[in-house]
Amino acid sequence: VSTLVLISGGGSNLQALIDESRRGLPIAIDAVISNEPQAYGLVRARDAGVATRVLCHRGFPDRQGFDRALMRLIDEFRPGLILLAGFMRILTPAFVARYRGRLFNIHPSLLPDFRGLDTHRRALAAGVRVHGASVHYVTADLDGGPVVLQARVPVLPGDSPEVLSERVLRQEHVIYPLAVRWFAEGRLVLGDDGRPYLDGQV
Ligand code: GRF
Repeated sequence: VSTLVLISGGGSNLQALIDESRRGLPIAIDAVISNEPQAYGLVRARDAGVATRVLCHRGFPDRQGFDRALMRLIDEFRPGLILLAGFMRILTPAFVARYRGRLFNIHPSLLPDFRGLDTHRRALAAGVRVHGASVHYVTADLDGGPVVLQARVPVLPGDSPEVLSERVLRQEHVIYPLAVRWFAEGRLVLGDDGRPYLDGQV
């Protein structure tokens, strides 16, 4: 499946996807797109021989303008799959509608808990004993699209947001490539009813 990965930062999830594609995950990462010119993930992409594009949101007067330019850029590649991996932009309804059913995100919490930013600090503040990460289809509802797969991790005494985030990230690097494998093998479909189906089951 021809795939684009959208990033804004470090790109450890991108790295996991690159590594797994070398081990037989049936995707071809045609390009990595970043809205941040300094994102370290761009270095990872170049090191792996993957094409990179930067589309800096700061040059656009509004969200619609940025998203239109992003859609034009994406459509040049005619991707079958678009993966948000630490892409720190809210997308317009027109954008998510265009790529319905082939646009995924990884979010560092057990959705629907802790949508939005700063999830590890908020999970610690809430005193939860179990935290984690979720792979979900992207819809116009921010971090609210149908969940495909989650990993749970314990919250341990003395955890800082940084330590907890490392524990969660290790699981992100497992579940994102796994969900992508299901999609790439044609096993995972977003139904007309808005629910994800794996092997034809809810
Ligand atoms: C991850 O925690 C991901 O869940 C969230 O942003 C972070 C990106 O990390 N959406 P990285 O850039 O993949 O290392």
